Amino acid sequence: MKPFVIALDGPAAAGKGTLAKRLAAHYNLAYLDTGSLYRAVGLAVLRAGGDPTDAGAATEAAKTLSASLLSDPELRSAKAGDASSKVAAIPGVRAALFDWQRRFAAEPQADVDGRPRSGSVLDGRDIGTVICPEAEVKIFVTASAEARANRRLKELQARGEEAIYARVLEDIRARDARDAARADAPMKAAEDAVHLDTSDLDIDQVFAKAKAIVDERL
Ligand code: C5P
Repeated sequence: MKPFVIALDGPAAAGKGTLAKRLAAHYNLAYLDTGSLYRAVGLAVLRAGGDPTDAGAATEAAKTLSASLLSDPELRSAKAGDASSKVAAIPGVRAALFDWQRRFAAEPQADVDGRPRSGSVLDGRDIGTVICPEAEVKIFVTASAEARANRRLKELQARGEEAIYARVLEDIRARDARDAARADAPMKAAEDAVHLDTSDLDIDQVFAKAKAIVDERL
């Protein structure tokens, strides 16, 4: 049977990750946070003393990406976030990560714990447009830049990172601009995506709305 795919796209800190995990648990689907792949590539380049805008170094890091980096605690840091959107603009990096993501969507049973699953939830920027344009459900999750900066600030502070609101907001805006402006697979909603603005919603409300969208397509 063809695996069922839920594609969640949208800008940084819009709430995609939290929603994706809830949906995956509720429908017993595998989950892939595709941003972590780009973060891992960015981090690998930084750790090797390289520059994340260097296409050669970043493409090589993407081709040789080690799975252990995907659970590295530094992946969620502000500097990994910044490096990730730089490497994500490099076509060689996107090409190297494309097959990996396609395979995950095609064979969700290959998920970490090996339990059989009938489909997957992927979150990112180009899932509904490039990685899984055939996905049964596409949701474009958005929120105002201010609401997203507030959430990201709390997340960074909870992890003990020093952060100030104005700087986090500036970083989010810079990342949005880079993600939307790049030539290769820019962040954008698929034509058939349902838009979900989470600015004034808590996670239970976001989940309820997303669940209603998924249930309509089951
Ligand atoms: O979602 P997250 O903030 O972890 O993603 C980090 C970066 O990875 C994004 O800013 C974006 O540049 C890149 N990304 C991407 N395509 C995806 C997922 C993430 O370009 N599907």
